[in-house]
Amino acid sequence: MIKPHGAETLNPLYVSDEVKRAELTKEAEQLPAVLLSSGAAASAVMLASGYFTPLTGYMNIDEAISVAADMKLPNGLFWPVPVMNIVPPEQLTDAVKNAKRIALRDPNVEGNPPLAVMKVSAIETLSADQKQFLIEKTFGTTDPEHPGVPAFANVGDNVLSGPIEVLNYSYFREDFPNTFRTAVEIREDIAARGWNTVVAFQTRNPMHRAHEGLCKIAQKEVNADGILIHMLLGKLKPGDIPADVRDAAIRAMVEHYFPENTVSITGYGFDMLYAGPREALLHAVFRQNCGATHFIVGRDHAGAGDYYGAFDAQEIFDTIPEDALEIGIFRGNFTVWSKKCNEIVMMSDSPHDADDYFSISGTKLREMLAAGEPPPPEIARPEVAQILMKYYQTEANA
Ligand code: ADX
Repeated sequence: MIKPHGAETLNPLYVSDEVKRAELTKEAEQLPAVLLSSGAAASAVMLASGYFTPLTGYMNIDEAISVAADMKLPNGLFWPVPVMNIVPPEQLTDAVKNAKRIALRDPNVEGNPPLAVMKVSAIETLSADQKQFLIEKTFGTTDPEHPGVPAFANVGDNVLSGPIEVLNYSYFREDFPNTFRTAVEIREDIAARGWNTVVAFQTRNPMHRAHEGLCKIAQKEVNADGILIHMLLGKLKPGDIPADVRDAAIRAMVEHYFPENTVSITGYGFDMLYAGPREALLHAVFRQNCGATHFIVGRDHAGAGDYYGAFDAQEIFDTIPEDALEIGIFRGNFTVWSKKCNEIVMMSDSPHDADDYFSISGTKLREMLAAGEPPPPEIARPEVAQILMKYYQTEANA
Protein backbone atom coordinates (compact mmCIF):
# COMPACT_ATOMS: atom_id res chain seq x y z
CA MET A 1 0.00 0.00 0.00
CA ILE A 2 1.08 3.59 -0.61
CA LYS A 3 3.31 4.91 2.20
CA PRO A 4 1.98 7.49 4.65
CA HIS A 5 3.33 11.02 4.24
CA GLY A 6 6.92 11.30 5.50
CA ALA A 7 6.73 8.09 7.52
CA GLU A 8 6.84 4.32 7.22
CA THR A 9 3.70 3.86 9.30
CA LEU A 10 0.75 6.00 10.30
CA ASN A 11 1.06 8.01 13.47
CA PRO A 12 -2.46 8.38 14.91
CA LEU A 13 -2.30 10.37 18.14
CA TYR A 14 -5.46 8.86 19.62
CA VAL A 15 -4.61 6.96 22.79
CA SER A 16 -6.00 3.59 21.80
CA ASP A 17 -5.05 1.70 24.95
CA GLU A 18 -8.19 1.84 27.08
CA VAL A 19 -6.48 1.82 30.46
CA LYS A 20 -4.00 4.49 29.47
CA ARG A 21 -6.79 6.59 27.95
CA ALA A 22 -8.86 6.39 31.14
CA GLU A 23 -5.85 7.45 33.22
CA LEU A 24 -5.05 10.31 30.89
CA THR A 25 -8.67 11.47 30.83
CA LYS A 26 -8.63 11.53 34.63
CA GLU A 27 -5.39 13.50 34.64
CA ALA A 28 -6.81 15.91 32.03
CA GLU A 29 -9.77 16.75 34.28
CA GLN A 30 -7.29 18.08 36.89
CA LEU A 31 -4.78 19.81 34.61
CA PRO A 32 -4.75 23.54 33.87
CA ALA A 33 -6.73 23.85 30.66
CA VAL A 34 -7.40 26.01 27.63
CA LEU A 35 -10.55 26.01 25.54
CA LEU A 36 -9.58 25.25 21.95
CA SER A 37 -10.83 27.12 18.90
CA SER A 38 -13.02 24.97 16.67
CA GLY A 39 -10.22 24.85 14.08
CA ALA A 40 -7.60 23.69 16.59
CA ALA A 41 -10.03 21.08 17.95
CA ALA A 42 -10.57 19.79 14.42
CA SER A 43 -6.81 19.61 13.94
CA ALA A 44 -6.60 17.49 17.11
CA VAL A 45 -9.15 15.11 15.59
CA MET A 46 -7.13 14.94 12.36
CA LEU A 47 -3.96 14.25 14.36
CA ALA A 48 -5.82 11.62 16.38
CA SER A 49 -7.04 9.94 13.19
CA GLY A 50 -3.62 9.62 11.56
CA TYR A 51 -4.56 11.97 8.72
CA PHE A 52 -1.86 14.45 9.76
CA THR A 53 0.94 11.86 9.91
CA PRO A 54 3.80 12.43 10.67
CA LEU A 55 2.98 15.50 12.79
CA THR A 56 3.05 14.97 16.54
CA GLY A 57 1.18 18.06 17.66
CA TYR A 58 0.78 21.79 17.11
CA MET A 59 3.46 23.87 15.39
CA ASN A 60 5.41 26.68 17.03
CA ILE A 61 5.73 30.07 15.31
CA ASP A 62 8.98 29.22 13.49
CA GLU A 63 7.48 26.03 12.14
CA ALA A 64 4.26 27.73 11.09
CA ILE A 65 6.12 30.56 9.34
CA SER A 66 8.32 28.03 7.54
CA VAL A 67 5.24 26.10 6.40
CA ALA A 68 3.49 29.27 5.28
CA ALA A 69 6.55 30.60 3.44
CA ASP A 70 8.03 27.48 1.87
CA MET A 71 5.46 24.73 2.40
CA LYS A 72 7.91 22.79 4.51
CA LEU A 73 8.83 22.43 8.15
CA PRO A 74 12.31 23.48 9.27
CA ASN A 75 13.24 19.76 9.17
CA GLY A 76 12.43 19.71 5.43
CA LEU A 77 9.12 17.82 5.59
CA PHE A 78 6.61 18.99 2.99
CA TRP A 79 3.56 20.51 4.73
CA PRO A 80 1.24 23.07 3.12
CA VAL A 81 -0.86 24.63 5.92
CA PRO A 82 0.07 25.72 9.48
CA VAL A 83 -1.42 23.47 12.16
CA MET A 84 -1.62 25.69 15.22
CA ASN A 85 -3.23 26.08 18.58
CA ILE A 86 -3.84 29.80 19.00
CA VAL A 87 -5.81 31.14 21.97
CA PRO A 88 -6.91 34.57 23.19
CA PRO A 89 -5.13 36.14 26.21
CA GLU A 90 -7.89 35.26 28.70
CA GLN A 91 -7.09 31.56 28.15
CA LEU A 92 -3.52 32.11 29.21
CA THR A 93 -3.99 31.88 32.97
CA ASP A 94 -1.02 31.76 35.35
CA ALA A 95 -1.73 28.06 35.87
CA VAL A 96 -1.48 27.43 32.12
CA LYS A 97 1.67 29.58 31.81
CA ASN A 98 3.41 27.56 34.51
CA ALA A 99 2.25 24.11 33.46
CA LYS A 100 4.33 21.47 31.71
CA ARG A 101 1.20 19.65 30.63
CA ILE A 102 -2.21 21.12 29.91
CA ALA A 103 -5.63 19.85 28.95
CA LEU A 104 -7.16 21.03 25.67
CA ARG A 105 -10.90 21.36 26.07
CA ASP A 106 -13.38 20.82 23.27
CA PRO A 107 -15.45 23.87 22.24
CA ASN A 108 -17.83 21.73 20.16
CA VAL A 109 -19.07 19.30 22.81
CA GLU A 110 -21.38 20.27 25.65
CA GLY A 111 -19.53 20.83 28.92
CA ASN A 112 -16.22 21.30 27.06
CA PRO A 113 -14.67 17.95 28.05
CA PRO A 114 -10.93 17.43 27.55
CA LEU A 115 -10.15 16.46 23.97
CA ALA A 116 -6.41 16.09 24.36
CA VAL A 117 -3.45 16.53 26.65
CA MET A 118 -0.56 18.66 25.41
CA LYS A 119 3.01 18.71 26.61
CA VAL A 120 3.79 22.41 26.47
CA SER A 121 6.94 22.98 24.40
CA ALA A 122 6.49 26.73 24.00
CA ILE A 123 4.07 29.57 24.64
CA GLU A 124 4.68 32.40 22.18
CA THR A 125 2.91 35.51 20.96
CA LEU A 126 2.29 36.16 17.29
CA SER A 127 3.11 39.67 16.11
CA ALA A 128 0.56 41.40 13.88
CA ASP A 129 2.96 41.06 10.95
CA GLN A 130 3.47 37.35 11.54
CA LYS A 131 -0.25 36.78 11.72
CA GLN A 132 -0.88 38.68 8.50
CA PHE A 133 1.87 36.68 6.84
CA LEU A 134 0.41 33.33 7.94
CA ILE A 135 -3.06 34.31 6.74
CA GLU A 136 -1.89 35.79 3.43
CA LYS A 137 0.22 32.73 2.58
CA THR A 138 -2.41 30.20 3.62
CA PHE A 139 -5.48 31.83 2.07
CA GLY A 140 -3.89 34.03 -0.59
CA THR A 141 -5.81 36.95 0.93
CA THR A 142 -6.37 38.68 4.27
CA ASP A 143 -9.87 39.83 3.32
CA PRO A 144 -12.07 39.50 6.41
CA GLU A 145 -14.99 38.68 4.10
CA HIS A 146 -13.24 35.46 3.02
CA PRO A 147 -15.13 32.57 4.66
CA GLY A 148 -12.02 30.99 6.18
CA VAL A 149 -9.93 34.00 7.18
CA PRO A 150 -11.89 35.11 10.28
CA ALA A 151 -11.55 31.67 11.89
CA PHE A 152 -7.78 32.26 11.82
CA ALA A 153 -7.72 36.03 12.31
CA ASN A 154 -10.04 36.19 15.33
CA VAL A 155 -8.70 33.38 17.54
CA GLY A 156 -6.15 35.47 19.41
CA ASP A 157 -2.35 35.70 19.28
CA ASN A 158 -1.08 33.27 21.88
CA VAL A 159 0.47 30.21 20.32
CA LEU A 160 0.68 27.04 22.36
CA SER A 161 2.83 24.39 20.74
CA GLY A 162 3.87 20.88 21.57
CA PRO A 163 3.03 17.20 21.14
CA ILE A 164 -0.46 15.99 21.99
CA GLU A 165 -2.22 12.79 22.97
CA VAL A 166 -5.87 12.70 21.98
CA LEU A 167 -8.63 11.26 24.17
CA ASN A 168 -11.59 11.07 21.79
CA TYR A 169 -12.80 12.07 18.34
CA SER A 170 -14.88 15.05 19.54
CA TYR A 171 -18.47 14.89 18.21
CA PHE A 172 -17.62 13.10 15.00
CA ARG A 173 -17.84 9.47 16.15
CA GLU A 174 -21.23 9.96 17.82
CA ASP A 175 -22.79 12.22 15.19
CA PHE A 176 -21.58 10.31 12.13
CA PRO A 177 -21.14 6.67 13.23
CA ASN A 178 -21.56 5.29 9.71
CA THR A 179 -19.39 7.83 7.98
CA PHE A 180 -16.63 9.17 10.24
CA ARG A 181 -13.52 7.05 9.72
CA THR A 182 -9.89 7.46 10.75
CA ALA A 183 -7.02 7.05 8.30
CA VAL A 184 -6.19 3.81 10.09
CA GLU A 185 -9.70 2.46 9.50
CA ILE A 186 -9.72 3.49 5.86
CA ARG A 187 -6.40 1.76 5.22
CA GLU A 188 -7.82 -1.38 6.85
CA ASP A 189 -10.98 -1.14 4.74
CA ILE A 190 -9.02 -0.69 1.50
CA ALA A 191 -6.94 -3.77 2.36
CA ALA A 192 -10.06 -5.79 3.26
CA ARG A 193 -11.69 -4.88 -0.06
CA GLY A 194 -8.54 -5.94 -1.90
CA TRP A 195 -8.30 -2.60 -3.72
CA ASN A 196 -4.88 -1.69 -5.07
CA THR A 197 -5.65 1.50 -6.91
CA VAL A 198 -7.98 3.89 -5.10
CA VAL A 199 -9.05 7.32 -6.26
CA ALA A 200 -10.17 9.66 -3.48
CA PHE A 201 -12.80 12.36 -3.91
CA GLN A 202 -13.01 15.34 -1.56
CA THR A 203 -16.40 16.94 -1.09
CA ARG A 204 -18.24 19.42 1.09
CA ASN A 205 -21.32 19.36 -1.13
CA PRO A 206 -24.03 16.90 -1.98
CA MET A 207 -22.96 15.22 -5.19
CA HIS A 208 -24.65 16.34 -8.38
CA ARG A 209 -24.24 14.89 -11.84
CA ALA A 210 -21.04 16.89 -12.42
CA HIS A 211 -19.45 15.39 -9.26
CA GLU A 212 -20.68 11.89 -10.11
CA GLY A 213 -19.34 12.20 -13.66
CA LEU A 214 -16.00 13.49 -12.39
CA CYS A 215 -15.60 10.47 -10.10
CA LYS A 216 -16.50 8.03 -12.86
CA ILE A 217 -14.19 9.66 -15.40
CA ALA A 218 -11.33 9.69 -12.87
CA GLN A 219 -11.90 6.06 -11.92
CA LYS A 220 -11.74 5.04 -15.56
CA GLU A 221 -8.66 7.14 -16.35
CA VAL A 222 -6.56 5.86 -13.46
CA ASN A 223 -8.05 2.39 -13.70
CA ALA A 224 -9.02 2.42 -10.04
CA ASP A 225 -10.44 -0.60 -8.25
CA GLY A 226 -12.48 1.72 -6.09
CA ILE A 227 -13.52 5.27 -5.33
CA LEU A 228 -13.14 6.68 -1.84
CA ILE A 229 -15.74 9.39 -1.36
CA HIS A 230 -14.27 11.25 1.59
CA MET A 231 -16.46 14.08 2.82
CA LEU A 232 -15.76 16.87 5.24
CA LEU A 233 -17.84 16.51 8.42
CA GLY A 234 -16.74 19.64 10.29
CA LYS A 235 -17.81 23.25 10.26
CA LEU A 236 -18.87 25.03 7.07
CA LYS A 237 -19.75 28.56 6.03
CA PRO A 238 -23.40 29.59 6.24
CA GLY A 239 -25.33 28.41 3.21
CA ASP A 240 -23.36 25.17 2.73
CA ILE A 241 -25.37 21.96 3.11
CA PRO A 242 -24.94 20.33 6.56
CA ALA A 243 -23.01 17.07 6.67
CA ASP A 244 -25.94 14.81 7.63
CA VAL A 245 -28.07 15.96 4.68
CA ARG A 246 -25.13 15.71 2.30
CA ASP A 247 -24.27 12.26 3.62
CA ALA A 248 -27.81 11.01 2.94
CA ALA A 249 -27.80 12.53 -0.55
CA ILE A 250 -24.44 10.97 -1.43
CA ARG A 251 -25.54 7.56 -0.16
CA ALA A 252 -28.71 7.73 -2.29
CA MET A 253 -26.67 8.58 -5.37
CA VAL A 254 -24.10 5.84 -4.84
CA GLU A 255 -26.76 3.22 -4.13
CA HIS A 256 -28.57 3.92 -7.39
CA TYR A 257 -25.86 4.95 -9.82
CA PHE A 258 -22.59 3.21 -9.02
CA PRO A 259 -21.83 -0.51 -9.42
CA GLU A 260 -21.91 -2.35 -6.10
CA ASN A 261 -18.68 -2.52 -4.09
CA THR A 262 -16.90 0.12 -6.11
CA VAL A 263 -17.40 3.03 -3.73
CA SER A 264 -16.52 3.55 -0.08
CA ILE A 265 -18.40 6.45 1.56
CA THR A 266 -16.49 7.97 4.45
CA GLY A 267 -15.81 11.27 6.15
CA TYR A 268 -13.22 13.07 8.25
CA GLY A 269 -13.47 15.52 11.12
CA PHE A 270 -12.07 18.84 9.99
CA ASP A 271 -13.47 22.34 9.53
CA MET A 272 -13.46 23.71 5.98
CA LEU A 273 -10.73 26.32 5.45
CA TYR A 274 -11.83 27.48 1.96
CA ALA A 275 -8.10 27.97 1.32
CA GLY A 276 -8.26 26.76 -2.30
CA PRO A 277 -4.79 25.77 -3.55
CA ARG A 278 -3.11 25.32 -0.15
CA GLU A 279 -6.07 23.30 1.08
CA ALA A 280 -5.90 21.11 -2.04
CA LEU A 281 -2.32 20.23 -1.10
CA LEU A 282 -3.37 19.44 2.46
CA HIS A 283 -6.23 17.33 1.07
CA ALA A 284 -3.71 15.37 -0.98
CA VAL A 285 -1.51 14.76 2.08
CA PHE A 286 -4.32 13.27 4.10
CA ARG A 287 -5.68 11.17 1.24
CA GLN A 288 -2.21 9.65 0.89
CA ASN A 289 -2.28 8.98 4.62
CA CYS A 290 -5.56 7.12 4.37
CA GLY A 291 -4.17 4.91 1.61
CA ALA A 292 -5.55 6.38 -1.63
CA THR A 293 -3.22 6.17 -4.62
CA HIS A 294 -4.89 9.05 -6.48
CA PHE A 295 -6.70 12.22 -5.55
CA ILE A 296 -9.17 14.21 -7.64
CA VAL A 297 -8.68 17.96 -7.89
CA GLY A 298 -11.32 19.54 -10.09
CA ARG A 299 -12.58 23.01 -10.76
CA ASP A 300 -12.20 25.61 -7.98
CA HIS A 301 -11.26 22.91 -5.48
CA ALA A 302 -11.85 24.05 -1.86
CA GLY A 303 -12.58 27.52 -3.16
CA ALA A 304 -15.17 30.13 -2.34
CA GLY A 305 -16.40 33.17 -4.24
CA ASP A 306 -13.85 34.58 -6.65
CA TYR A 307 -10.81 34.25 -4.43
CA TYR A 308 -9.05 31.66 -6.61
CA GLY A 309 -8.81 30.93 -10.31
CA ALA A 310 -10.72 27.86 -11.50
CA PHE A 311 -7.56 25.75 -11.78
CA ASP A 312 -5.20 27.40 -9.24
CA ALA A 313 -5.65 24.39 -6.95
CA GLN A 314 -4.29 22.13 -9.71
CA GLU A 315 -1.45 24.41 -10.77
CA ILE A 316 -0.02 24.63 -7.26
CA PHE A 317 0.95 20.95 -7.59
CA ASP A 318 3.41 22.04 -10.33
CA THR A 319 5.24 24.22 -7.81
CA ILE A 320 6.05 21.58 -5.20
CA PRO A 321 9.10 19.28 -5.31
CA GLU A 322 8.50 16.12 -7.30
CA ASP A 323 9.12 13.89 -4.30
CA ALA A 324 6.91 15.92 -1.92
CA LEU A 325 3.99 13.52 -2.26
CA GLU A 326 3.54 9.97 -3.46
CA ILE A 327 -0.17 10.23 -4.24
CA GLY A 328 -1.06 10.89 -7.89
CA ILE A 329 -3.25 13.90 -8.73
CA PHE A 330 -6.11 13.46 -11.17
CA ARG A 331 -6.77 16.91 -12.60
CA GLY A 332 -10.38 17.29 -13.58
CA ASN A 333 -11.42 19.88 -16.12
CA PHE A 334 -14.99 21.27 -16.02
CA THR A 335 -17.47 18.42 -15.97
CA VAL A 336 -20.80 19.23 -17.55
CA TRP A 337 -23.74 17.60 -19.31
CA SER A 338 -23.21 17.35 -23.06
CA LYS A 339 -26.42 17.32 -25.09
CA LYS A 340 -24.53 15.82 -28.02
CA CYS A 341 -23.02 12.95 -26.02
CA ASN A 342 -26.03 12.60 -23.72
CA GLU A 343 -23.79 12.26 -20.68
CA ILE A 344 -21.49 14.16 -18.38
CA VAL A 345 -18.21 14.95 -20.13
CA MET A 346 -15.06 16.78 -19.28
CA MET A 347 -15.02 19.93 -21.38
CA SER A 348 -11.37 19.53 -22.32
CA ASP A 349 -12.13 16.05 -23.74
CA SER A 350 -15.20 17.10 -25.71
CA PRO A 351 -14.74 20.51 -27.23
CA HIS A 352 -18.21 21.25 -28.57
CA ASP A 353 -19.98 24.52 -29.19
CA ALA A 354 -20.93 26.37 -26.03
CA ASP A 355 -24.64 25.71 -26.56
CA ASP A 356 -24.08 21.95 -26.59
CA TYR A 357 -23.45 22.04 -22.85
CA PHE A 358 -26.30 22.10 -20.40
CA SER A 359 -25.82 23.74 -17.03
CA ILE A 360 -27.60 25.95 -14.55
CA SER A 361 -26.09 28.17 -11.89
CA GLY A 362 -25.80 27.08 -8.27
CA THR A 363 -28.16 29.90 -7.33
CA LYS A 364 -30.79 28.72 -9.81
CA LEU A 365 -30.41 25.14 -8.56
CA ARG A 366 -30.95 26.25 -4.95
CA GLU A 367 -33.98 28.30 -5.96
CA MET A 368 -35.53 25.30 -7.70
CA LEU A 369 -34.86 23.00 -4.75
CA ALA A 370 -36.29 25.53 -2.31
CA ALA A 371 -39.41 25.92 -4.46
CA GLY A 372 -39.86 22.14 -4.51
CA GLU A 373 -39.28 22.15 -8.24
CA PRO A 374 -37.31 19.07 -9.32
CA PRO A 375 -34.11 20.19 -11.06
CA PRO A 376 -33.36 18.80 -14.53
CA PRO A 377 -32.03 15.21 -14.41
CA GLU A 378 -28.97 16.41 -16.33
CA ILE A 379 -28.05 18.40 -13.21
CA ALA A 380 -29.16 16.31 -10.24
CA ARG A 381 -30.28 12.72 -9.75
CA PRO A 382 -33.95 12.63 -8.65
CA GLU A 383 -33.13 10.63 -5.49
CA VAL A 384 -30.61 13.29 -4.51
CA ALA A 385 -32.97 16.12 -5.44
CA GLN A 386 -35.69 14.64 -3.20
CA ILE A 387 -33.45 14.80 -0.14
CA LEU A 388 -32.27 18.31 -0.92
CA MET A 389 -35.77 19.63 -1.65
CA LYS A 390 -36.91 18.36 1.72
CA TYR A 391 -33.95 20.05 3.39
CA TYR A 392 -34.43 23.39 1.63
CA GLN A 393 -38.14 23.41 2.34
CA THR A 394 -37.83 22.63 6.04
CA GLU A 395 -34.57 22.95 7.94
CA ALA A 396 -32.81 25.44 5.69
CA ASN A 397 -35.59 27.93 6.25
CA ALA A 398 -36.22 27.10 9.90
S1 ADX B 1 -14.83 21.38 -2.31
O1 ADX B 1 -14.74 22.63 -1.57
O2 ADX B 1 -14.94 20.22 -1.45
O3 ADX B 1 -13.75 21.27 -3.30
P1 ADX B 1 -17.09 20.51 -3.90
O4 ADX B 1 -17.67 19.54 -2.94
O5 ADX B 1 -18.08 21.30 -4.69
O6 ADX B 1 -16.20 21.57 -3.12
O7 ADX B 1 -16.13 19.83 -4.92
C1 ADX B 1 -15.60 18.57 -4.76
C2 ADX B 1 -14.61 18.28 -5.88
O8 ADX B 1 -15.28 18.29 -7.15
C3 ADX B 1 -13.46 19.28 -6.03
O9 ADX B 1 -12.30 18.60 -6.48
C4 ADX B 1 -13.96 20.21 -7.11
O10 ADX B 1 -12.89 20.82 -7.76
C5 ADX B 1 -14.69 19.24 -8.02
N1 ADX B 1 -15.77 19.81 -8.84
C6 ADX B 1 -16.99 20.21 -8.42
N2 ADX B 1 -17.78 20.58 -9.47
C7 ADX B 1 -17.03 20.42 -10.59
C8 ADX B 1 -17.25 20.64 -12.01
N3 ADX B 1 -18.41 21.04 -12.50
N4 ADX B 1 -16.22 20.38 -12.84
C9 ADX B 1 -15.03 19.92 -12.38
N5 ADX B 1 -14.78 19.70 -11.08
C10 ADX B 1 -15.75 19.93 -10.19
